[in-house]
Amino acid sequence: MDDSPTRHGRLWNWLDLRVGLSELEKLARKKEIPVHRHSIWYYFGGMTLFLFLVQVATGILLLLYYRPSAEEAYESVQFLMAEVEFGWLIRSIHAWASNLMIFTLFVHLFSVWLLKAYRPPREVTWLSGIGLMAIAMGFGFTGYLLPWNELSYFATKVGTEITGVLPLAGAFLRRLLRGGDEVTGATLTRFYGIHVAVLPALTVLLLGLHLFLVQRHGMSVPPRVERRNAPKPVMPFFPNFLLRDLVGWLSALAVLAALAAYFPWELGKKADPFAPAPIGIKPEWYFMFMFKTLKYLPSYVLGVEGEVVGVVGFGLGGLFLLLIPFLDRRTARGEPGRLFTWIGVVVLLYMLVLTWLGYTETPTQ
Ligand code: HEM
Repeated sequence: MDDSPTRHGRLWNWLDLRVGLSELEKLARKKEIPVHRHSIWYYFGGMTLFLFLVQVATGILLLLYYRPSAEEAYESVQFLMAEVEFGWLIRSIHAWASNLMIFTLFVHLFSVWLLKAYRPPREVTWLSGIGLMAIAMGFGFTGYLLPWNELSYFATKVGTEITGVLPLAGAFLRRLLRGGDEVTGATLTRFYGIHVAVLPALTVLLLGLHLFLVQRHGMSVPPRVERRNAPKPVMPFFPNFLLRDLVGWLSALAVLAALAAYFPWELGKKADPFAPAPIGIKPEWYFMFMFKTLKYLPSYVLGVEGEVVGVVGFGLGGLFLLLIPFLDRRTARGEPGRLFTWIGVVVLLYMLVLTWLGYTETPTQ
């Protein structure tokens, strides 16, 4: 292929002199993607990124009408849905894309886990990924309250109550999140600030690091493919893989458009802090496995309150997840080992079964 700069137009040459476009072009041309039977999993990081961009775009549009106070939040969303042209659709896309993004994020996480892509030198890519997952769940938790409807109000009450169970810092954290002892307008204002300023800023930092590292190290191959004494086929990133990535993005867009248009996100009733909690309060699906675990635990386990055991257990689980690249020494040394694969499979099954139970069991309280 002709690589001479004259092939490009004048605008390209003008920009190239000032921002170094040909460097980027060289980088994109050099990048190669391994081809093997697990290559399909490489698409999920890109799909997550695409859905995140959808969130940024629709979130900005929602901000044009949203008002972050207990007196006006519900009414502003109601106005947006009833009066603003396509307002209902933008809100529906934002709500559905957040769920789809967390879904593709989980698929990305478990594929990276099971294919051991966290092994050296990608430990920091993994750490930044776990940070991004925590942020994504934070986005979900804080965003859920913003319409100030009955369901979100009580789910936030339960969610922040659970934070309060943590030993030592629990009571402080609960007050910090709620902006007082109860879930009130102060909580809404805080959640709004976290949702539209704190978390986006943290995301830019961590996502920048994550994508930089992915670029720096290139895509990993699964250990089994790496150990094979056979040629390892690759495909150029540009344009071959990028076009395939686009298919992933368009598939995500198709699912998103269908869900948002056929199942518009509902608003429900306005929150009434003095009303009794409705039966069957449920968190978002991605918190369900934790919520259900806490429900199943007995009141006391070995003399310690069941909820405390559950919350501390999840905290330790999170720490374990973060440290996987440093705990899985066999994989780090390039030796075959199945322990961490099995742990991944068990964790995945546990989450699936408890989520399923959360949606199928009849609520009693
Ligand atoms: C907002 C969230 C995230 C975005 C937008 C994102 C994006 C990406 C993209 C575009 C890639 C390259 C393509 C691919 O492998 O799919 C990638 C790779 C990677 N991601 Fe993420 N990611 C996110 C969260 C996570 C999480 C939660 C983890 C796990 C803890 C993680 C760990 C990794 C690792 C280790 C790689 C390198 C994969 C390899 O070299 O084979 N990421 N990420």
